Amino acid sequence: MLLNNQIFGAPLAGITDKPFRRIIRTFASEVPLYTEMISCHSLVEAHKNCPRNFDRYDDEGNIGTQIFGADAGLMADAARILQDSGAAWIDINMGCPVPKVATRSGAGANLMRDHHLAEKIIKAVVKAVQIPVSIKTRLGWDEAHVDWKDLMQIAADCGVSFAALHGRTRAQLYTGASILPKITDDVKIPIIGNGDIMTSEDVRRVKSLGYVGAMIGRAMLGRPWLLGELSGDTQVPTEIGPIILRHLEYMLEYYGSKTAIPMFRKHVAWYSSGMSNSTNFRVKVNQISDAKELKKEICKFWGCEAVI
Ligand SMILES: Cc1cc2nc3c(=O)[nH]c(=O)nc-3n(C[C@H](O)[C@H](O)[C@H](O)COP(=O)(O)O)c2cc1C
Repeated sequence: MLLNNQIFGAPLAGITDKPFRRIIRTFASEVPLYTEMISCHSLVEAHKNCPRNFDRYDDEGNIGTQIFGADAGLMADAARILQDSGAAWIDINMGCPVPKVATRSGAGANLMRDHHLAEKIIKAVVKAVQIPVSIKTRLGWDEAHVDWKDLMQIAADCGVSFAALHGRTRAQLYTGASILPKITDDVKIPIIGNGDIMTSEDVRRVKSLGYVGAMIGRAMLGRPWLLGELSGDTQVPTEIGPIILRHLEYMLEYYGSKTAIPMFRKHVAWYSSGMSNSTNFRVKVNQISDAKELKKEICKFWGCEAVI
């Protein structure tokens, strides 16, 4: 599953949903993609009430489902549900810095300062499933506690297959530059580098530091072809309009128009970012609630034919 020098699509809550992954797949059929993070509590609870109502992942190829939580038993249950739903691997979130996750629930980034709990969760999840398990973490809790190597050692000892490392601390959130350390021989687990990676030059730099892969997050926004481009599967497309229409179509199919259209506005903003007259265009789009009208405006702006 983990091939050397691979490009990974990062988990992005509120963004890397099924329609977004589907549009990425049209350009990169093989690259490993993460889901958005999923709460083990809500997953297990919802599954109890309505097991049929769940996303399946079998049709998505190389897909890692990311879970977060602080209860080892529930994390194991969630991992089993996702394995049964066709996930290719399970990822444990050990880096989310938002207070609701890290400080109030003891999950996400909190596991970087509670290695005992981290170990308990990793062991329970690895034992619960037959598919590979990975972790995604940061350099440490803050500048005074840059102890990612200790967590990687625990992960390696517990049978985790690989890990992703974001080159910032929890305290940094998303500010300052992501600085990835060199991977030395004492690190016993394959590591994927993450943070501010946007170009093939960035990918080469990360590889030269000893990482087995590069994980791309925000750089994919408005550029669903980027993973395909960086992995050599596709060229940058010359016509963007049809791609946006297709992405919209996937959203409409999955969510229905009432939910999809407001959700799609942020994608329109990313797709149009930096284009002339994009501010006026976005103001207009933000008032549209009808799918046909939205498609018409997209076609007008990008100069393509509507497929209505
Ligand atoms: C809007 C947003 C949502 C994110 N959601 C998640 C998430 O669900 N799970 C996770 O592990 N990281 C999440 N992250 C962190 C990213 O996966 C990634 O580590 C971070 O953005 C740095 O990579 P980049 O510079 O390539 O974006 C999120 C980041 C952003 C900006």
